[in-house]
Amino acid sequence: MKTIKVLTVCLGNICRSPAAQGILQAAATQHKGLDLQVDSAGTAAYHIGKSPDPRSIRALSDVGVNISAQQARQVKAEDFDYFDWIVAMDADNLANLKAIQPAHSHAKLVMFGAYHTSVALGEVQDPYYGEYDGFVVMREHLQRISERFVAHLMSVDQESSCL
Ligand code: 4NP
Repeated sequence: MKTIKVLTVCLGNICRSPAAQGILQAAATQHKGLDLQVDSAGTAAYHIGKSPDPRSIRALSDVGVNISAQQARQVKAEDFDYFDWIVAMDADNLANLKAIQPAHSHAKLVMFGAYHTSVALGEVQDPYYGEYDGFVVMREHLQRISERFVAHLMSVDQESSCL
C-alpha cells in the first residue's frame, strides 16, 4: 500500500490546519485500506514553535482527537516535493502557496474544500478572532471535508498518478 502524504495549510498553523491534521490522522486510523502521513504548516511565521490554539485543542478533544503535541511551523520549499497533496484552508492560503510553489513541484496544490473539480465544500473560515463557537463550526466543516477527501483517496487507484 502506497503511503499518501498530505500537508494541511492555513495562515498561522495554530487553528485550522492542526485541526485538519488531527481529523485526517483520526480518519486514517479508521480506514484500514488507507496509509496516510499527515503534517500541517502555516504560510506565515507568526507562531512558529507554538502549540495549537487552546480552543482548537478543546474542539478536537471533544471528539476524541488529541492535537496538543503539534508545534507550528512555516511551509518550506521542500514540502512541495515531499507531499503528494498540499491542501489550503482558504483562497488566500492557496494564493500564498501558489506564489512560493517551485516550478515542476510534485504536490497537488488545492483548496481543501475543493480538492476536485466536482467538490465545492467552500473555504474553512478563520476562527482565530472569534469566539469558541467558531471553532466548533470549523471542526464540523473540516470533518465533512475530510470524510469526502478520504473517500476520494480510497476510491482512486493509489498506485496511479491521477490521485
Ligand atoms: P489559522 O488562524 O490560520 O487557522 O492558524 C490564525 C491564527 C493566527 C493568526 C491568524 C489566523 N494571527 O494573525 O496571528
